Amino acid sequence: MPQLLADRGTGASKMNWLAAAAYALCVLAHSAHCATNSIAWCYHNPNCNDNTWPSIAPKQCNGTRQSPIDIVTANVAVNPNLTAFTFNNFSSTSAMKEIKNTGNTVQVTFDSGIRVSGGDLSEAYDSLQFHLHWGNGTTIPGSEHTVDGKRYPMELHIVNIKSSHNGNITQALGDPTGLAALGFFIEELPGTTDQPASWKNLTSYLAHITNASSSVDIAPGYSLDDLLAGVNRTRYYRYLGSLTTPTCNEAVVWTVFKEPIKVSKNLIDLFSNTVRLTNSTSPLMINVYRNIQPAQAVSTQVATASSASKTCFSLGLMGLGVLLGRH
Ligand SMILES: *[C@@H]1O[C@H](CO)[C@@H](O)[C@H](O)[C@H]1NC(C)=O
Ligand SMILES: *[C@@H]1O[C@H](CO)[C@@H](O)[C@H](O)[C@H]1NC(C)=O
Ligand SMILES: *[C@@H]1O[C@H](CO)[C@@H](O)[C@H](O)[C@H]1NC(C)=O
Ligand SMILES: *[C@@H]1O[C@H](CO)[C@@H](O)[C@H](O)[C@H]1NC(C)=O
Ligand SMILES: *[C@@H]1O[C@H](CO)[C@@H](O)[C@H](O)[C@H]1NC(C)=O
Ligand SMILES: *[C@@H]1O[C@H](CO)[C@@H](O)[C@H](O)[C@H]1NC(C)=O
Ligand SMILES: *[C@@H]1O[C@H](CO)[C@@H](O)[C@H](O)[C@H]1NC(C)=O
Ligand SMILES: *[C@@H]1O[C@H](CO)[C@@H](O)[C@H](O)[C@H]1NC(C)=O
Ligand SMILES: *[C@@H]1O[C@H](CO)[C@@H](O)[C@H](O)[C@H]1NC(C)=O
Ligand SMILES: [Zn+2]
Repeated sequence: MPQLLADRGTGASKMNWLAAAAYALCVLAHSAHCATNSIAWCYHNPNCNDNTWPSIAPKQCNGTRQSPIDIVTANVAVNPNLTAFTFNNFSSTSAMKEIKNTGNTVQVTFDSGIRVSGGDLSEAYDSLQFHLHWGNGTTIPGSEHTVDGKRYPMELHIVNIKSSHNGNITQALGDPTGLAALGFFIEELPGTTDQPASWKNLTSYLAHITNASSSVDIAPGYSLDDLLAGVNRTRYYRYLGSLTTPTCNEAVVWTVFKEPIKVSKNLIDLFSNTVRLTNSTSPLMINVYRNIQPAQAVSTQVATASSASKTCFSLGLMGLGVLLGRH
């Protein structure tokens, strides 16, 4: 999470573009050549990889609530306030507007009117974009968050801004809960090719955005719900963290869903064997994720997989009492 300041989408028309311009120039120019601007960063070049980010944004990237983290299920607290979300217009088949190679990720921008609320968020948040993190195909996993040390092949981040900021990113970055990020793991759907259809379509655009800063429009026909199919969105982890790219602002309410999206191996592989860091002669975009940061307090609705099972739910109030004792 995220290329927040890098890209202008129709869904983000209210964003503070003047303030974002300096960042955008640099991100689009891809890092190391961006000496005159302040934000030059990358994942792998020794001069600008994530170990050097604290020198780019000392206050933030070296802060005390940085993301991503390893979620240790044995340490997760129970919080009954973590109710279901309401996802507005996630079923819209015209919500996704454009897909872009930003030089550090692949990002899809949304039309306006996509929103998320509930889930113990303080108010509604407007959804701006999603982007992805990956390793090298299904063999070298590249999710940002890990669960008990397990890294998934990919992770999708939906970036949302608190509605009361009216699209003012600068303002949101100064608010400890100004942004809400929804993280979805992606893992292989075994024994299939080209599934699900929504992901086949989405990944069909990658061949058109192999160069950094290139983008194409997405034709209507499938929804965010289609891309997130199979994930029970009432089951998630919650913690307070940061952007996982410079400037690492500690302004993010993180939600990491427990169940992964399942996608065929051949479609997952397309990310690491199609899009490039700059142009046709530059390296492929691989291992685009930040290293794990120090632990944070994480909560969830009910006991996590390691300590809960279906029989546990049948214990009802007695079971709940035991779990609450783990605070
Ligand atoms: C970041 O924190 C580390 C460890 O505390 C420290 O060694 C380093 O100097 C800090 N970097 C910056 C740029 O503040
Ligand atoms: C749940 O919400 C109530 C009311 O806002 C609050 O007092 C309580 O501390 C919350 N519980 C947890 C575990 O955060
Ligand atoms: C979003 O939902 C509202 C109703 O809640 C509807 O009026 C609007 O057209 C929808 N927008 C899109 C892009 O689907
Ligand atoms: C990524 O995976 C491909 C295909 O398995 C392999 O050829 C390539 O060497 C890998 N790249 C790195 C940097 O590991
Ligand atoms: C965004 O918020 C910042 C900080 O509150 C403020 O200085 C700026 O004027 C706002 N920008 C717009 C376009 O409203
Ligand atoms: C990418 O850029 C190169 C020049 O660096 C160009 O030849 C090629 O057509 C571009 N590819 C796409 C898909 O636009
Ligand atoms: C899928 O992708 C192609 C472009 O790659 C597009 O023409 C088509 O309309 C898309 N949508 C659906 C629902 O198939
Ligand atoms: C989603 O998970 C909740 C809580 O575990 C459960 O009650 C519900 O039945 C699940 N929904 C589906 C569709 O499986
Ligand atoms: C690709 O970019 C490099 C520098 O990033 C440049 O030297 C090279 O000429 C470019 N190649 C093409 C085909 O545009
Ligand atoms: Zn991200």
